[in-house]
Amino acid sequence: MLLNKIPLSLYIHLPWCETQCPYCDFSNTTDSVNGNDAKLAEAIIKDINQSNDLIADRKFKTIYFGGGTPSLASTESIKHILDSVKDRFVSEEAEITFEMNPSNVSEDKIDKLLIAGINRISLGVQSYNNQELQALGRNHDRESAIHATQALKGINSTIDLIYGIEKQTPESFTESLNKIIQSDINHLSLYQLTIEPNTIFYKKELKLPNEEEIEIIEFIAKNLLERNGFRQYEVSSWSKPGYESQHNMNYWQFGDFLGVGPGSHSKISNKAEIIRFRKIKPLEGYIQNQRSTDLKIISDNDLDMDLAMNLLRIKNGLQQEDITIKLPASFLKKYQKGIDAGLLLKNRIGATQKGYRFLNETIQLFF
Ligand SMILES: C[S@@+](CC[C@H](N)C(=O)[O-])C[C@H]1O[C@@H](n2cnc3c(N)ncnc32)[C@H](O)[C@@H]1O
Ligand code: SF4
Repeated sequence: MLLNKIPLSLYIHLPWCETQCPYCDFSNTTDSVNGNDAKLAEAIIKDINQSNDLIADRKFKTIYFGGGTPSLASTESIKHILDSVKDRFVSEEAEITFEMNPSNVSEDKIDKLLIAGINRISLGVQSYNNQELQALGRNHDRESAIHATQALKGINSTIDLIYGIEKQTPESFTESLNKIIQSDINHLSLYQLTIEPNTIFYKKELKLPNEEEIEIIEFIAKNLLERNGFRQYEVSSWSKPGYESQHNMNYWQFGDFLGVGPGSHSKISNKAEIIRFRKIKPLEGYIQNQRSTDLKIISDNDLDMDLAMNLLRIKNGLQQEDITIKLPASFLKKYQKGIDAGLLLKNRIGATQKGYRFLNETIQLFF
């Protein structure tokens, strides 16, 4: 494998949350930050430096601060981390994204983040409707969501919305989408609410919209977004042309990523194999020792499934040369079966309209 040809991204996990949202199973802690962001920043810098054996002199194509709630960390600790990796950027324009929750957004905080080197903000709005925000157990309201969206004016930014929420109606969803369309946001991540095991929602009787109602919401999204210059380029991702997330595209094109911070995941190719591993979840433990755990070499059989789960998410497919590795013969053999069934494209690697509509079933071809 020509390692320098495989793009490498850096994911930095900052686990703090003010409150625990009842639907979320991401690695996090509601313990207050209380100066621990400086200690975590040191541990993260150490972790990146200790990864030298794995990534050698490879540079980062993109950087992503995710959470948790990165916006709860001080801008000084973010600057400290970015300063420590500034010789490792592929280019001066490398995309550096930072997740913010509406309750921590202020013009001053954004200015400081931009000065530190952040050039893309991801705002977790979820909804602009108070009833829906309450149903999701969020600690922000419509007013702070609107204020935070306005504060992003002129900044390369993306918003997360959730659909399929209790009490959501086609009208309330349309209103949320319109708020984004009326702003100058150029990217939207639109997630259907999933009920994950080990969450509060899992144990609750929820009255969620039924399949028919979900289809109506999806139909509204497609129509409204397409009429207003957005294009769906991935299962949950919509953007104006040229504003696709470079960081996420690297995951789906099967690029490498180094994950640092508690509970973060990595996928790294070396000369002989592709490995996955993760960092331990407890914050205190990670600050003490940034050791990796669950190291796994991707077997040939798992590789086919892994490739399908990533590549086929991209709408309208990819050219072979946009994929970071040479596709294995076993993958191509399974792929041919998908072409014969009308589920996969002939001239590109990707799903047909039918294959995309039933993506989970299509991916099963690669089992
Ligand atoms: C892990 S969160 C971090 C962002 C930030 N802390 C926030 O809450 O806005 C990233 C995004 O995942 C989405 N998300 C998390 N759990 C989800 C679930 N169970 N169903 C659908 N979307 C979910 C939300 O849209 C959220 O903005
Ligand atoms: S959705 Fe965001 S704020 Fe809520 S618990 Fe998850 S990471 Fe924290």
